[in-house]
Amino acid sequence: MPSAMEGPEGAEEGEILRYEEAEDDSASPTDLSELLKEGTKESHDRAENTQFVKDFLKGRIKKELFKLATVALHFTYSALEEEMDRNKDNPVFAPLYFPLELHRREALARDLRYFYGEDWKEKIQCSEATQHYVDRIHHVGQHEPELLVAHAYTRYMGDLSGGQVLKKVAQRALKLPSTEEGIQFYMFENISNAQQFKQLYRARMNALDLDKNTKERIVEEANRAFRFNMQVFDELDKIGKSLTEEAQDGGFPVHDGKGDIRKCPYYADKLGKAGPGCPYHTAVALAKQPLVQLILVSCMAVVAGAAAWYLL
Ligand code: HEM
Repeated sequence: MPSAMEGPEGAEEGEILRYEEAEDDSASPTDLSELLKEGTKESHDRAENTQFVKDFLKGRIKKELFKLATVALHFTYSALEEEMDRNKDNPVFAPLYFPLELHRREALARDLRYFYGEDWKEKIQCSEATQHYVDRIHHVGQHEPELLVAHAYTRYMGDLSGGQVLKKVAQRALKLPSTEEGIQFYMFENISNAQQFKQLYRARMNALDLDKNTKERIVEEANRAFRFNMQVFDELDKIGKSLTEEAQDGGFPVHDGKGDIRKCPYYADKLGKAGPGCPYHTAVALAKQPLVQLILVSCMAVVAGAAAWYLL
């Protein structure tokens, strides 16, 4: 079992005290935690049944795709944690502010450094579906902070639950080192007991001073957060299908030539940066240049002429 699932030994005194807050687990149907659990059940089922998640659970994930999933998480958590930092003293969110225990930004930076190298920031970009999710998180954090809890709930409670299954699958399927490089995202080093921490988090959500209408809006927002996640999964699934089996670790994904060029994560124009682009799309783009076409035709004419001369 991962460290987040282990017993409370080694936890800081403060952590243990906070866990004790959660001991009263008698739930009422009007508690936000219950409303969220019930109100997102269908979304959870749908998310678990997306092709990307099903393949992932079966260990059918290519390293290149896992890296892109990590990139999507990086942009998502950077937005989420920026907005949580902004609202850390706002009573609608403050009791749920657990930067030491939950925040994933640094862990994701370590994973991306492992996968892409020191200059990982220059090598990644935010995908279309992730950008929509990120935009919504910023909107909520800045204009409807009472809904921020929905986004935190959807991600962190999931990470502390099913995320722990994914960690083991990824480690095995991608043959990642036992040193846990590349899967830091799944390691909650400051949470000694995930079940207890989730109980504490539920208790904190239930203690927020919220009217019925706001609770309903939060549940609605959590379902929206699930939809954003599913859109990211669907996008990853599509990219996964365009990667052939030979996609090389650390190299460029090999394309089958199908699909929308603008969605190619290595598409140089979209990156707007110098440096090597996707080899397939670079070759296709070059072949479309009139000058290159002229040179190619001239070369072919010379070769044909030489062959004819030799044969005659
Ligand atoms: C790999 C597929 C998944 C598996 C196997 C899985 C498994 C689980 C399990 C077993 C729980 C119950 C934990 C508990 O009651 O303590 C849970 C809860 C949760 N999961 Fe997932 N999950 C998956 C995918 C997702 C996804 C994709 C999301 C959202 C992006 C998500 C969000 C949540 C949330 C928010 C909870 C907390 C429910 C609550 O107690 O209120 N899960 N998950």
